[in-house]
Amino acid sequence: MTWLLQFFQSSIGKKILMAVTGLLLAFFLIAHLAGNLMLFGGPEMFNNYVLSLTNLKPLVRIAEALLTLIFLGHVFSGIRVTLENKKAKPQSYQVAPRSATSNFYSRTMAVSGSIVFIFLVFHLQTFWWSFQKMHGNDADFYEVVVHSPIGFNNPLVAVFYILALILLALHLRHGFQSAFQTFGLADSRYKGIVEKTAVLFWLIIPLGFISIPLYFGFIK
Ligand code: HEM
Repeated sequence: MTWLLQFFQSSIGKKILMAVTGLLLAFFLIAHLAGNLMLFGGPEMFNNYVLSLTNLKPLVRIAEALLTLIFLGHVFSGIRVTLENKKAKPQSYQVAPRSATSNFYSRTMAVSGSIVFIFLVFHLQTFWWSFQKMHGNDADFYEVVVHSPIGFNNPLVAVFYILALILLALHLRHGFQSAFQTFGLADSRYKGIVEKTAVLFWLIIPLGFISIPLYFGFIK
């Protein structure tokens, strides 16, 4: 066990922890998007979907606990890697004012990550918390997401979601590039296929999420 802790204290260990937890969170987003797209099917379809999850409560609770652990692992390793990079900066400045790899995305990782974190707190405090308080077969989950003051027919909520999701896309884009470097895939012969797969995560999935506040906030 000590060797594992020591490994995660090392520079590469922290990067691997960040990459693996980031990838697991990205997989959660696929499942989450698939569920949320049911909103396009109307109230009956979405409410039935949420009710079916409610019936699987013990499993959902286990998944939520795992997700929280993975998320905390990602945030803590992210904070530590950012602090380490900051500490290393004064020396590197004497050689070059800006490192070659420190492009727009990497410099904004901490900022985009923090804003996505704030988004998540708001998101859970509104949708997730409201759903926890609703019971029974008549509960209208669709109404909360679409027509309530915390839902997408409030233009402020819809715009906030769209902006946060654009930042999530930027965060995922650089996150995948960093993960490929950590795993030594950035210059390997798998580079092409790996980059194409990453597009699904950093572009297609955020676009899928964005379609929801865009449609229910401004089109429907
Ligand atoms: C248009 C975008 C989104 C919509 C409509 C949406 C909708 C929802 C709803 C309705 C819930 C409550 C589910 C329940 O309690 O059964 C929920 C939970 C949650 N959402 Fe989202 N979500 C969106 C985007 C996101 C994004 C981008 C993230 C992550 C960055 C995220 C992370 C979570 C998490 C961690 C939970 C709690 C886990 C769970 O109990 O399922 N969501 N979301």
